[in-house]
Amino acid sequence: MVLSLVVLISGGGSNLRALLEASEDAEFPARVIAVGADRDADGFEHAEAYGIPTFAAALSNFDDRESWGDAMLEQIRVWQPDLVILSGFMKLLPPRVIAALSPNLINTHPAYLPEFPGAHGVRDALAAGVTETGASIIIVDNGVDAGPIISQRRVPVLPGDTESTLHDRIKPVERELLVQAVLDIANGIIDLKTTAAGDTAATDQRSASP
Ligand code: GAR
Repeated sequence: MVLSLVVLISGGGSNLRALLEASEDAEFPARVIAVGADRDADGFEHAEAYGIPTFAAALSNFDDRESWGDAMLEQIRVWQPDLVILSGFMKLLPPRVIAALSPNLINTHPAYLPEFPGAHGVRDALAAGVTETGASIIIVDNGVDAGPIISQRRVPVLPGDTESTLHDRIKPVERELLVQAVLDIANGIIDLKTTAAGDTAATDQRSASP
């Protein structure tokens, strides 16, 4: 099965880029069909480079978060995607949008959840003085980075790391996990319904690696 993907971003879109590059391989079982954002995101350039349509809706242009969420949902539904990926999308979607898309709504996060959820996962790990953090792919629920974990991997924190050096080491791991998760979902190795129901254990890609 070839999965159709809508990817939502807010920033540079390096994870989006990884998906676009992966789908250059004709064998890759997923295609990005549209990219959305809550702003005129820098990462739209990757979509444009691949001729993928984009859409944007800024929360500040709406009376409330619910109306903004409805507008985002309407745009997403135009594409009838099999899977929606929040890839550095830094706004919380309202519960009725999550309910409409769940469990086919996944998120990437630059920490080893449930450690360090939220908008500053990398900064918070550094501030806590931990020696390792990580990256995670989860199914989105109504909590903040609290949904069922699909896969995750540890990344060491090195002496002298700044938020930027640490994030730069986490991002390639995130990209690998995301591409692998999409592959596994397309190939039926990960069943989102079952994972969302909490019936399967997450894959720690560190122990899964050779
Ligand atoms: C990624 O590290 C992603 O996990 C993070 O934003 C970055 C976006 O990078 N998302 C969150 O922190 C969400 N809680 P990108 O725009 O280059 O893909």
